[in-house]
Amino acid sequence: MYNEIDLDIIDINSEPPAEEPFRQYYFMARCREWVRDFEQKNGRRPTACVTTFGCQMNARDSEKLAGILEKAGYQLIDNEKADFVIFNTCTVRDNANQRVYGRLGELGGHKRRNPGMKIALCGCMMQEPEVIEKLRKSYSFVDLVFGTHNIYKFAELLYASHETEGMVVDIWKDTDKIVEDLPAERKYPFKSGINIMFGCNNFCSYCIVPYVRGRERNRKPEDILEEIRRLVADGVVEVMLLGQNVNSYGKNLDNPITFAQLLREVEKIDGLKRIRFMTSHPKDLSDELIEVMAQSEKICRHLHLPLQSGSTRILERMNRRYTKEQYLELAQRIRDRIPDIAITTDIIVGFPGETPEDLEETIDVVRRVKFDNAFTFIYSKRTGTPAAAMEDQVPKEQVRQGFDRLLKTVQDTARSQAAKYEGRVMEALIEEANDSAWEGNPGAGNVSGTACAGTDAAMGTQDTMGAPVSMVTGRLSNNTVVHMPGDASLVGRVVQVSLDRCHGFYYIGHRV
Ligand code: SAH
Ligand code: SF4
Ligand code: F3S
Repeated sequence: MYNEIDLDIIDINSEPPAEEPFRQYYFMARCREWVRDFEQKNGRRPTACVTTFGCQMNARDSEKLAGILEKAGYQLIDNEKADFVIFNTCTVRDNANQRVYGRLGELGGHKRRNPGMKIALCGCMMQEPEVIEKLRKSYSFVDLVFGTHNIYKFAELLYASHETEGMVVDIWKDTDKIVEDLPAERKYPFKSGINIMFGCNNFCSYCIVPYVRGRERNRKPEDILEEIRRLVADGVVEVMLLGQNVNSYGKNLDNPITFAQLLREVEKIDGLKRIRFMTSHPKDLSDELIEVMAQSEKICRHLHLPLQSGSTRILERMNRRYTKEQYLELAQRIRDRIPDIAITTDIIVGFPGETPEDLEETIDVVRRVKFDNAFTFIYSKRTGTPAAAMEDQVPKEQVRQGFDRLLKTVQDTARSQAAKYEGRVMEALIEEANDSAWEGNPGAGNVSGTACAGTDAAMGTQDTMGAPVSMVTGRLSNNTVVHMPGDASLVGRVVQVSLDRCHGFYYIGHRV
């Protein structure tokens, strides 16, 4: 798939090379030797399970972890009773951390029954020193811990954990490195996330991401385009360009380019049918981008544009660097130029100092922009961020009431937006067949939300439809989900669908 290196040509008796990615392929080859030994002793390959918490960026990182495990010879399974289990963690809100600790307790139970099992933890949560302290103290059964900056070293660390008794911990404070050409095992054959940048420089005052993901680093456009070309040759029809703030892409490259220019280049790739991207920061969204989207045949009619708050006073305290009026004006400009676009958003309720009047401002923006979907989050205090030190934290009861009021408004606008296309024929990319489509989020969406008022939240309502008989699930360009009769042979294809009935946030339709 990538510029992968054949493990058979690597001499594992030589010294490990210093240069990347060669060094990691060397350790994959050494891990493969370990796997072969395991197989001889146990009469089966060792199994491995990668569990992802958090956002699309983590999901993509997990595909890389899975790619390395697969290359080393592990059998990937979806069950945490595997011989090797790795949690790729998130720490954006405290409940993300709590979920990890809860699940880790369960893993400890599995390990008591299977002492040969190895448990690894990586991702954003591992960048917090308090977490490492707690793991050492209360979760000493964990075998391997690493962070976001050295994830490319996974093969080397996996090898080290085979060779070492006790917990291997390797956390870096920051990095300026990007290692290309490591293997990845995609969750979907027909669509893929692509990192275009790593880290974040924005320091919104509530947010821990810049601390755990480090400073913004951009991949070179030629590396991104080459990766997409290879993915397309391998059957991918839809790509999602990933970054914490894609609109600032390219500014600090040696040969600067804008995000809009990158999109123009991606558009030219033959065989690629759909382009998505996430996330856009309103402060950096250019007219050039709106124009490129308006003229594009491939860029999906969907823009995720986090609002966070509709109150200019709160936005200022959040360090978002736009006002309520600027956001409204931007949303209007986008809707005027691209009338069929869906605009979705993220909103935080209960930021320090937020009054009921501030929340009214947010609700006013929701009504005026008519968001097609919104992920609403209760503010979570993150140690080390400026907002954590603000004194006027909002009482829980006020937050709860405000949250419920906001959620209702968001659901109302999302429902009326979704219904707009009833009776129309539109293109859908078929993503899943049958039962699995009903199990929850089929792959889009944003961070794992505390609550969301959109298509993904509505997916569980199977009983409103009766038992689905050979149904498939597709996604419109505007990200709305549509279910229709069909079979697995349609998965990965773009088809024309008549949107017969809107059920709240999704459609039931049929192919035409
Ligand atoms: N880079 C993206 C978002 C990354 S985090 C952006 O800027 O849009 C995803 C979402 O989590 C944010 O948009 C925000 O709404 C929410 N979030 C981040 N920190 C939070 C916190 N401390 N409490 C509650 N929600 C938070
Ligand atoms: Fe966090 Fe703001 Fe960066 Fe998004 S832009 S990751 S909310 S600091
Ligand atoms: Fe979570 Fe890290 Fe993403 S904190 S939201 S997994 S960047």
